[in-house]
Amino acid sequence: VSQEDIKGIADVIETQEWLTPVADGVQNTVGAIYAAAGPVGQKVKNFLHGTWLGHPLHPAITDVPVGAWTVAAVLDVVDAVQGNNGKNATADGAISIGLVGAVGAAVSGLTDYQGSGSQSPRAGVVHGLLNLVATGLYTYSWILRRRGDRVPARYLAWAGYGLVSLSANIGGELTYSQRIGVDHAQREGLPGEWTAVLPVEDLAENQLKRAEVDGLKVLLVRRGEKILALGEVCSHLGGPLAEGELQDNCVKCPWHGSRFELENGKVVDGPATYPQPKFEVRIQNGQVEIKSTRSKPEDD
Ligand code: FES
Repeated sequence: VSQEDIKGIADVIETQEWLTPVADGVQNTVGAIYAAAGPVGQKVKNFLHGTWLGHPLHPAITDVPVGAWTVAAVLDVVDAVQGNNGKNATADGAISIGLVGAVGAAVSGLTDYQGSGSQSPRAGVVHGLLNLVATGLYTYSWILRRRGDRVPARYLAWAGYGLVSLSANIGGELTYSQRIGVDHAQREGLPGEWTAVLPVEDLAENQLKRAEVDGLKVLLVRRGEKILALGEVCSHLGGPLAEGELQDNCVKCPWHGSRFELENGKVVDGPATYPQPKFEVRIQNGQVEIKSTRSKPEDD
């Protein structure tokens, strides 16, 4: 199946309106579970989004089941060709590792899906359903292997592998074409020299303010003598931070609630995983001027 075919499949899925209530149901259910868990739920969510990693956790975890099940598929082929229907501990172990990894991939994927609200494409639901069916096939294959029914177990595993491969391609399409899970902050053309963005008198105390210079959107907050500046386009899915909420030392995105530290752009709460670009600020001739600093807090 070529990438063009996958794009075509994803496009057809996006026209399927009946998937919307399914997507809403999944998001609402997962959201309600996390909400019921309160602050602990937020911590678990941050962990599963990959806020601590600086990039999304889900694509990293999916390598576990895909890799393990690839090993199992190859070993099963070798056994089938050699007519070996006895126990194969390596193949069976790979199926088991894949099942454990699939649980992690499902939980992190559902968490990301819940965190992307109405921007979630319908193809994400199909991606999840395919993985669910594939995991069911692998679970049954695992049971049959324990019973010694190796021939049907191999067929089930190969069928599961076909579904997982299709699903992984749809997941890749979501990332590369629809830019789900990639950094949406503006990081090109950040000013390396002091650049005026706004008269200082336009900045009210403790209010979020958007300024724009040469297409670059900047978030400014004045706190007494201090002025803080971050990239205004949210790194998660491009939300307008200036329309969000000022909370103590953080700004909260209006779209999906990611929170960033005003001082340094670090992610405090996901679903965002990438930090906001931050800027040095000075006042010159009544103008607020900014200059780019390193965009990643860990570079400091
Ligand atoms: S765009 Fe999703 S949290 Fe900002």
